[in-house]
Amino acid sequence: MKNFIYCILCLFVASGEAAKPFKWSYCNPKKPGIIRIKELKVSPSPLPSPGKFYVTMEEETLAPINSSRVEISVKKQALINVPVPCISKFGSCTYPDTCTLLDDMEKKNYGGLLGPIATVLKKLYHSKGLTYKCPVPPQKIKVTKAEFTLPATSSVMKTFLQGHFKAKIRLIDNKNKKEFFCLNVEMSVSTGCHGWLCGKR
Ligand SMILES: *[C@@H]1O[C@H](CO)[C@@H](O)[C@H](O)[C@H]1NC(C)=O
Repeated sequence: MKNFIYCILCLFVASGEAAKPFKWSYCNPKKPGIIRIKELKVSPSPLPSPGKFYVTMEEETLAPINSSRVEISVKKQALINVPVPCISKFGSCTYPDTCTLLDDMEKKNYGGLLGPIATVLKKLYHSKGLTYKCPVPPQKIKVTKAEFTLPATSSVMKTFLQGHFKAKIRLIDNKNKKEFFCLNVEMSVSTGCHGWLCGKR
């Protein structure tokens, strides 16, 4: 079992080190769904962990968003693209309900990473007079260089986070079971971790 885990880890380690810029696209450009993105930028690339990163976003939602499921699938680019599992609610995870997601993410600090990010997001919503309570009314969101922090992580997490990732994010309405939004994003993360488990075991 231990060897099996190390083998999975070695696939993650054997990844190209070159960082690539942040990229996004609609999964289906002909049917962008009800969330229209005018601008989405994440910098710097690679995202430093630990460190700060910045998000500039302008988007508009065209219809109320009701209780929805979020499905995220992540692949890490290596010699072959390796599917990333869901580890303590971080990675390729399904979250059952957008209505409670931010509060739950903050409370349980998903992946030891996402708690502080949820806190910043909630503050942003408040400061802009926007709401994330369900049903979320149609609204416009514009943020310029919002600052987020990635905390220091364990050496296993460092190995896991180092690299280039491709993620697909799908939003599916819980009542009518229809996908109403789907986004592809690509980003690189640098944990300064280059060796086998960062040179530690
Ligand atoms: C949410 O529910 C309202 C009212 O039933 C509906 O008009 C709207 O399209 C739904 N939103 C989504 C994203 O399905």
